[in-house]
Amino acid sequence: MAGIYIHIPFCRQKCYYCDFYKTVNTSLLTDFIRALRAEIQLQKNYLEGEQVETIYFGGGTPSVLTKEDIIEIIGFLREVFPVSPGCEITFEANPDDLTPHYLADLYSAGIRRLSIGIQSFNDVLLKKMNRRHNAIQAVEAIKNAAATGFSDISADLIYGLPGLSKSGWKANLQTVFSLPITHLSAYHLTYHERTPFYTWLKKGTLKPATEPTSIAHFETLMKMAAEYGFEHYEISNFAKNGLYSKHNSSYWTGKKYLGLGPSAHSFNGFSRQWNVSHTEKYIRSLEQSQLLFEEELLSEENRLNEYILTGIRTKWGVSAAEIQNRFGPEKAAYFQQNMEKYLDKKLAIKTGEIYTLTQQGWFVSDEITTNLMFI
Ligand SMILES: C[S@@+](CC[C@H](N)C(=O)[O-])C[C@H]1O[C@@H](n2cnc3c(N)ncnc32)[C@H](O)[C@@H]1O
Ligand code: SF4
Repeated sequence: MAGIYIHIPFCRQKCYYCDFYKTVNTSLLTDFIRALRAEIQLQKNYLEGEQVETIYFGGGTPSVLTKEDIIEIIGFLREVFPVSPGCEITFEANPDDLTPHYLADLYSAGIRRLSIGIQSFNDVLLKKMNRRHNAIQAVEAIKNAAATGFSDISADLIYGLPGLSKSGWKANLQTVFSLPITHLSAYHLTYHERTPFYTWLKKGTLKPATEPTSIAHFETLMKMAAEYGFEHYEISNFAKNGLYSKHNSSYWTGKKYLGLGPSAHSFNGFSRQWNVSHTEKYIRSLEQSQLLFEEELLSEENRLNEYILTGIRTKWGVSAAEIQNRFGPEKAAYFQQNMEKYLDKKLAIKTGEIYTLTQQGWFVSDEITTNLMFI
């Protein structure tokens, strides 16, 4: 089982917190799609014939694509790869693009799972982030998606934002859980270098959330998600009725995936590669039938660290038996010894051979994962 990620590197405007690779030069779209077709053809053997179970349109802003573009891309992927009939196809979309007409287009193009970038239902904060939509548009986007027939809708929210109070965050959660969503991704704000938020933070003109506020946000998130029947299955992800993101889960469980488009990452079990983060260079190189990427071979330690880092952040946890099978008894013993202190402090629990974090453990997961790494 394998996955395909397609990075659509266009945004109509840039949000002040975001460091995903994107350009506002949408005039490159036609050339980009031609280049993408060339890349798909050149990478046809990357997944070594494995069945493709998930396709993910991410960005940037996939909702700059037309229905015809999407049909062409999915159709071509099906020609080149063994895409399973029940393949999960997720499409990231910005609320302001989700008109009833566009939603109908997405549905008829074969998209069945939507991931909508809401971020906040607070108009003042949306403006501060340089989002193009307002709260009403966000609510309408989700309602219209459900009315179109989408039954698997995910919303993205950000907490720990400057100016987001505890009650403001609670109100955001109340709104999102009252809407017909099946999945929530809630991320704590990260200040990435080379973003306006980072610059303002360093200058002192942007006042970050305090640690107690961030902790309170996370606490409220976990409590309310449980009340509304959403299962906390990964540090930032919550699902109703077992509707996990299959695509993202495959990243966390070490499955192969092929990333297409500028800046996209691929993983084949022993190496990781990432495409050039530059749309013009990407297009020019594929015009010459050349892939343009960097590659890193993963050492055994890298692979073990990745398994622990991703696994411990999920409800499926880390298996000492799997460490033993894949990396040998010494590594398994070392990992188990390291976990003892977290078991004692009730930050983790052990069920058979599987170690998972408790709710208290989620709060300090960064510290725990850092300590668990093999150097
Ligand atoms: C790749 S972005 C694209 C989504 C889509 N373009 C949109 O903005 O609606 C995916 C998600 O990452 C999250 N994200 C991006 N930058 C972030 C940051 N600095 N801190 C926390 N979350 C962030 C946002 O929730 C966003 O919806
Ligand atoms: S959050 Fe989405 S819309 Fe905003 S800049 Fe990033 S990718 Fe573009």
